Amino acid sequence: MAQSRTLSIIKPDATRRNLTGAINSMLEESGLRIVAQKRIRLTREQAEAFYAVHRARPFFKDLVNFMISGPVVVQVLEGENAVERNRTVMGATDPAKAERNTIRARFAESIEANSVHGSDSPENAVSEIGFFFTPAEIVG
Ligand code: CMP
Repeated sequence: MAQSRTLSIIKPDATRRNLTGAINSMLEESGLRIVAQKRIRLTREQAEAFYAVHRARPFFKDLVNFMISGPVVVQVLEGENAVERNRTVMGATDPAKAERNTIRARFAESIEANSVHGSDSPENAVSEIGFFFTPAEIVG
C-alpha cells in the first residue's frame, strides 16, 4: 500500500521528562518511520499560528503558553496510513480516555500536557509538515 506522511510533535511535558526516546520507540514499533526530526523551541508567534484553528477555544492561551514552555521535537512520520496509524499509537487527546499502551495513556500528564501532537487528516498533515520542514529536510 502507498506510503503517506504525518506531522508529530513531542511536547514540552515529554521533553522535560526525557521521554523522546521512549516515544520514538513506540512510534517505530507501530510501523512508522521517522523521516525528519528536529528539536526546537517554538516562538509564541509560531505556536499561535500552528494552533490558529483553536484560537477561539477557551484553552488557546494556556495551550500556547504550554507549547512555548520548553523544547519540542517536531518530526515527520512515514508509513501506511500514517495519520491514522499515528493517531492510534498516540491515543485519545484526553489521557483519561486513551486506550491502554498508547503514548498518551502511558505518558500524558493532562489533556493539555498530553505529550504528543499528531495531524488529524491527510490534508492537515501536508500543511503541518510544510509549517516546519522544507522538502530537502525530509529523507524517506
Ligand atoms: P493537540 O492534539 O496538540 O491539539 C490541540 C491541543 O489543545 C490538544 O492536543 C491539547 O494539548 C490542548 N487542549 C487543552 N485543553 C483541551 C481540551 N479541552 N480539548 C482539546 N484539546 C485541549
